[in-house]
Amino acid sequence: MYPQVFDAAKQVDQAFLIIFGFSAVILLLICGVTLFFIWRYHHSRHPQAADIEGNVLAELIWTLLPTIIVMALFYFGWTSYSSMRDAPEGAMEISVDAKMWSWIFTYSNGKRANILMAPVNTPVKLNMTSKDVIHSFFVPAMRIKMDTVPGMSTYVWFKSDETGDFDILCAEYCGLKHANMITTLKVVAQEEFDAWLAGGDEQAQGKALLDKHGCLDCHTLDGAESDGPTLQGIAGREVRLLKPDGSTEKIEVTAQYLREAILYPDKSLVEGWDDIMPPYEGDISEEDLNGIVNYLMSGDSKGAHPGRAKAEMEGCISCHSTDGSIIEGPSFKGLYNSMRDVVDADGKESKVKAGDAYLREAILYPDKVLTKDYDDVMPPYDDMPKETLDDIVDWMKTLGAPEK
Ligand code: CUA
Repeated sequence: MYPQVFDAAKQVDQAFLIIFGFSAVILLLICGVTLFFIWRYHHSRHPQAADIEGNVLAELIWTLLPTIIVMALFYFGWTSYSSMRDAPEGAMEISVDAKMWSWIFTYSNGKRANILMAPVNTPVKLNMTSKDVIHSFFVPAMRIKMDTVPGMSTYVWFKSDETGDFDILCAEYCGLKHANMITTLKVVAQEEFDAWLAGGDEQAQGKALLDKHGCLDCHTLDGAESDGPTLQGIAGREVRLLKPDGSTEKIEVTAQYLREAILYPDKSLVEGWDDIMPPYEGDISEEDLNGIVNYLMSGDSKGAHPGRAKAEMEGCISCHSTDGSIIEGPSFKGLYNSMRDVVDADGKESKVKAGDAYLREAILYPDKVLTKDYDDVMPPYDDMPKETLDDIVDWMKTLGAPEK
């Protein structure tokens, strides 16, 4: 079975095995008896069927025995249910907002994140709700699953005995990108959790990793030229790669590209730069590599637009591309200052220019300025902190002018 890292969850497994075991035994028993009766009471062996009228003992047995079995199964089910249900007093509380198609976790100090961080050996209670449709918060490793319902508050709790990364899934079909509604529960030591919660250190850690591996000897974080391209704003940058046969290819910098460029720089050389970077294959741990890639992609690296990271966290990017392709909503590319055919909440159509004010309104109250021919599926973001809204709108403006 899956790792057992949550004490209360062990009872769930136990209840499952007991109920499954009982059912299996009873299934075999019934099949056996049926086969035996078929053989024993075949008309060739038992030509004269007996006419039995009333048998108190038999009736008592077939009433009491199943009752006792069902009550025993109920007992195991109920005890495991209540241990999963009753969050201990003083559990650490984290709020969970589900929406198409991402999770946002808000911590006691107001910090928001897309991943669920939790200290080891600490009971954590998740107070959950949904911004749009019903989702279901599911952590298989903890055996917890609970629907998140718009306008309603639900909760689950867990406590992990071990540190590690565990999958979080959405277990309720919630539309086109339901399958993408996955994230990670990271259980870490208390000190690591405290440091993370206090914030700021991801940036320091990312930088420390770059320093540790000598990246900063050739790559700057402030946009200045050095022996290699600057890492400022590297996430999403368009670059031309030089292929071994001398041809070039235009790509956008993704996490996948960064991994390759670090491990095998000669295969991912950007046009105009010398092939002098040593391959890091075998020289860098998977953990450090992930740390560096995450840092560079997160937008925390100095100079990358903070709006991008925020748009990612708020889940905008799961429906709006930045490259002109259509996912669920209009692409952000070239959206700013473009002319839009919009439909208001009453169904009235008009043409508006997607300026600053329009973008803000479209984020806060999407149903009021819906772009024609798109479904009204975006939840209102009217509780988005102003700073986040400012950054996201600022960033959207950097995504190019409207196409002619
Ligand atoms: Cu959210 Cu499926």
